[in-house]
Amino acid sequence: MIHDNPFSLNYTPNHFCDRETEINQLQTNFFNGLNTVIHSPRRLGKSAVIKHLFHQFENEKLVETIYVDLYASQNMQDLIQMLAEKVLKKFHQKNFIAGLQQILKGLSPTVSFDRNGIPSFSLQINAQQYQTSLEQIFGYLEQKNKKVLVAFDEFQEVATYPDKAEAILRTHIQNLSNVKFIFSGSSGHILQEMFLGAKRPFYQGAEVIVLDKIDRECYKQFIINTFENKTKSITPEAADYLLDFSDVYTYYTQLICNQCFAQTETLLTEDMAQQMAANYLESRKFDYENISNLMTENQRKLTIALAKEGAVLKPNAMEFLSKHKLPGASSVSQALKVLLEKQILFQSPEGIKVYDVFFRRYLEQYF
Ligand SMILES: Nc1ncnc2c1ncn2[C@@H]1O[C@H](COP(=O)(O)OP(=O)(O)OP(=O)(O)O)[C@@H](O)[C@H]1O
Ligand SMILES: [Mg+2]
Repeated sequence: MIHDNPFSLNYTPNHFCDRETEINQLQTNFFNGLNTVIHSPRRLGKSAVIKHLFHQFENEKLVETIYVDLYASQNMQDLIQMLAEKVLKKFHQKNFIAGLQQILKGLSPTVSFDRNGIPSFSLQINAQQYQTSLEQIFGYLEQKNKKVLVAFDEFQEVATYPDKAEAILRTHIQNLSNVKFIFSGSSGHILQEMFLGAKRPFYQGAEVIVLDKIDRECYKQFIINTFENKTKSITPEAADYLLDFSDVYTYYTQLICNQCFAQTETLLTEDMAQQMAANYLESRKFDYENISNLMTENQRKLTIALAKEGAVLKPNAMEFLSKHKLPGASSVSQALKVLLEKQILFQSPEGIKVYDVFFRRYLEQYF
């Protein structure tokens, strides 16, 4: 019997685990008229939390929600175009042109139609027109009967725009009362500086939520229930094994559970889970070898040492250097700097870690 795999790697409302505290907090902030910044290391589930909140709001029909992913944006014009597209899609699905004229009055967008007659538009605007277009779009949302919640995901991109984007946005955002915002992005100095740096326009402009791992017991129960809801089962020991293997990181947990669910006929035991996890690493070996081959000798040695330790608070300490036969502290610092920038490593509260959990498992086992 073929089952839909419930451990999806796309957000699905029916197979969503926990996050009640964060969702309540986002809701409370919104109804109290506050904007929220939500950040975490990559792939812990920021985008999914926002989508789940929006799904609930849309069901209740009390709030209008607009989700904008800024990942591919490079400047203010892109942001404005993406925002306008989402607003039009939401409120002017049937009367696109009229909506466009209302939202981007005087900005001469170019409209085109695809083979199915679906319209889209592109904008060519200059810096002077940023203000006008934002005023129009936000002004339009400000007039809506329902309250509006706009989420800018991957908001750290804004700091890389060549324009004075932060200041321009801030001016508009702080004057709105019917429209509130969620700014989401991966933890790191960019987002932190945007919201905590005293000289930055967003300083003290929002409440901050740091998204952590999902509670382990909660995730374990979710895994067991999800197998059972699809008439399969998993032993508690196997669920624990998988959570150890993924270090309870959401994306890696979903991915390994997806693989194991697909390969399980009726019951998944710990031995089977172990074998499937090993097979998975084997299948990724080529990719991981490629990543290691792109590193210098020092970088590779350091990454392997960190993988074996799990997390290291002081990678420059003599004890760590000599245990893993690493070069001197200054060479290690240099390698560390590059690997952090490339996001091969990241700084967690427990210490420096290898970012990709399965790459970490591969290095642990193969070296
Ligand atoms: N609470 C959850 N229950 C089940 N699956 C989840 C949950 N949260 C996230 N996921 C899944 O985990 C993966 C990572 O989540 P998501 O993309 O939301 O993370 P992110 O923090 O936004 O990552 P990035 O920093 O790369 O943008 C996705 O496949 C998502 O569907
Ligand atoms: Mg995301």
